[in-house]
Amino acid sequence: MNSINQSVRLLSGCDMPLVGIGTYKVRSSDIFRVLDESLNSGFRAIDTAAVYKNEEAIGTALKSLLPKYNLKREDLFITTKLSPSDNGNPEGIRKAVETSLNALGTTYVDLYLIHWPGASKIPENSSDNSELRSVTWKTLVDLHKQGLLKSIGVSNYNIIHLQQLVANCDDVKPSVNQVECHPHYRQDDLLKYCTQEGIHLQAYSSLGSSDNDALLNDPVVRQVSSTLNVSPARLLLKWALQRGIGIIPKATKTAHIRDNIKLGFTIDKDSMDLLLNLPQQKYAWDPSNVN
Ligand SMILES: NC(=O)c1ccc[n+]([C@@H]2O[C@H](COP(=O)([O-])OP(=O)(O)OC[C@H]3O[C@@H](n4cnc5c(N)ncnc54)[C@H](OP(=O)(O)O)[C@@H]3O)[C@@H](O)[C@H]2O)c1
Repeated sequence: MNSINQSVRLLSGCDMPLVGIGTYKVRSSDIFRVLDESLNSGFRAIDTAAVYKNEEAIGTALKSLLPKYNLKREDLFITTKLSPSDNGNPEGIRKAVETSLNALGTTYVDLYLIHWPGASKIPENSSDNSELRSVTWKTLVDLHKQGLLKSIGVSNYNIIHLQQLVANCDDVKPSVNQVECHPHYRQDDLLKYCTQEGIHLQAYSSLGSSDNDALLNDPVVRQVSSTLNVSPARLLLKWALQRGIGIIPKATKTAHIRDNIKLGFTIDKDSMDLLLNLPQQKYAWDPSNVN
């Protein structure tokens, strides 16, 4: 089956496409063109966040793009995220969800994530962070039960953050943990823990982010991709899928968008092993100091 049609059954009972598009740093003025090309290419999942400031552009674009592609709202999977500035504030969280729903032009989101384990107004090492996370989760569980958030999850949580949450989650475990993950930052232990708990690990910055081409230019990545006759980007995306990890590549160039759905090939074991032995380096923000 083409990977673009594959989905994962989340703990919530909802199905999420394993492949979606990322929209971090996609300017509002580019959103229509990027979504048009992405839907045309077959993508059916969109990842955004309150802090990306493009939810409204996405909502506006979808008003005309859904009829253009003969799609209904339920044919799409939309993820958005709570800004760290709203962590721990139930009233602020309810307002933030309402604002995102209005901006996106929808009555529900498919997945709502706590973007970051820390609250932006207090230091990362403050012991208050864990209590604020707990308050946030309880509020999201309530909004989930009301049907506004079909699935709820977290982002940038490490094993300790997850263990605290699972121990005190009001019987609703996070469906997803969205984290940086690629051959330069494999997340082996986190993947193992999430798999044990049934939490789907979704990768961000699979291509090393918009600010860094070290991963796409890694000599081993280039050598393996040339041997398999695929682009380095396709290799990196397939590497994640073969580990059971969802992907949300961001691409603004048409050629990139079209490249990123061509994932119907297999990476052989020797090539996977080469990619699983690269030196490790983190490119995005690091939650390890968030208490
Ligand atoms: N939860 C979080 O904290 C968090 C953090 C970061 C990202 N995310 C999410 O994850 C998504 C993806 O991560 P990311 O934005 O960091 O970056 P990414 O997907 O790792 O990489 C994006 C970069 O790769 C380029 N690219 C895309 N397809 C390509 C291809 N086929 N060949 C060569 N280059 C290609 C893009 O170029 P062009 O744009 O020029 O096409 C862009 O420069 C984000 O957009 C966002 O939705 C979440």
